[in-house]
Amino acid sequence: MRVLITTVTCTAGIVMLRWLDTSPRMNVLAISGSLRATSSNAALVRAAARLAPSTIAIEIYAELAALPHFSPDLDVAPLPGPVAELRAAVGRCDAVMITTPEYAHGMPGSLKNALDWLVSATGPIDKPVLLISASPGGAAHAHAQFSEVLRTMSMRLVDGGAHVFSRAKLDGDGNVVDKALLASIRAGLAQLAALERSPPA
Ligand code: FNR
Repeated sequence: MRVLITTVTCTAGIVMLRWLDTSPRMNVLAISGSLRATSSNAALVRAAARLAPSTIAIEIYAELAALPHFSPDLDVAPLPGPVAELRAAVGRCDAVMITTPEYAHGMPGSLKNALDWLVSATGPIDKPVLLISASPGGAAHAHAQFSEVLRTMSMRLVDGGAHVFSRAKLDGDGNVVDKALLASIRAGLAQLAALERSPPA
């Protein structure tokens, strides 16, 4: 919600009016499932950060490659540093956004590894998560697999769709310019915000 407040400047005797946004901010942790330097899925996350309204703050998680391979033997105190940091980031955010490519009709191992580290944490439980998948072949298989995993982890899924991706959807600087894709990111963020405001069933 925006309310009008006044600011008085004494010297010139002018009353300045300005808008103050009083809506609660939703903090979203955004994770790209690709480690590639020029990743299109990382571009989707950057696009979300650019498109997000002032009521949504996007924190980009960039430490996927630093996580050790999941082992229950390592899932004890003290946790490996990158794992503790991932769990803290998921614990403090209000919602999560995941973008992912598809490899061999499956999910990227690095992203599944991160989710495996989160299975025994409380942070993801009932947390809204927006899943957007993008690959040249449409990523339907990876999308279906992650949907199942995220629901199994008791996260509240917003289905952002599985998209056919080509370099034509990026500009020369690697930014997403495809109107349909940008619209679906915008719609996904709006659904995420609506779900975050509603209590879990
Ligand atoms: C792929 N790619 C791919 N794409 C797809 O749609 N279905 C698939 O099964 C596969 N399999 C696959 C296997 C391997 C080993 C590689 C390296 C690539 C293509 C891949 O999804 C594509 O390069 C994406 O653009 C990668 O996402 P980022 O890195 O651009 O975010």
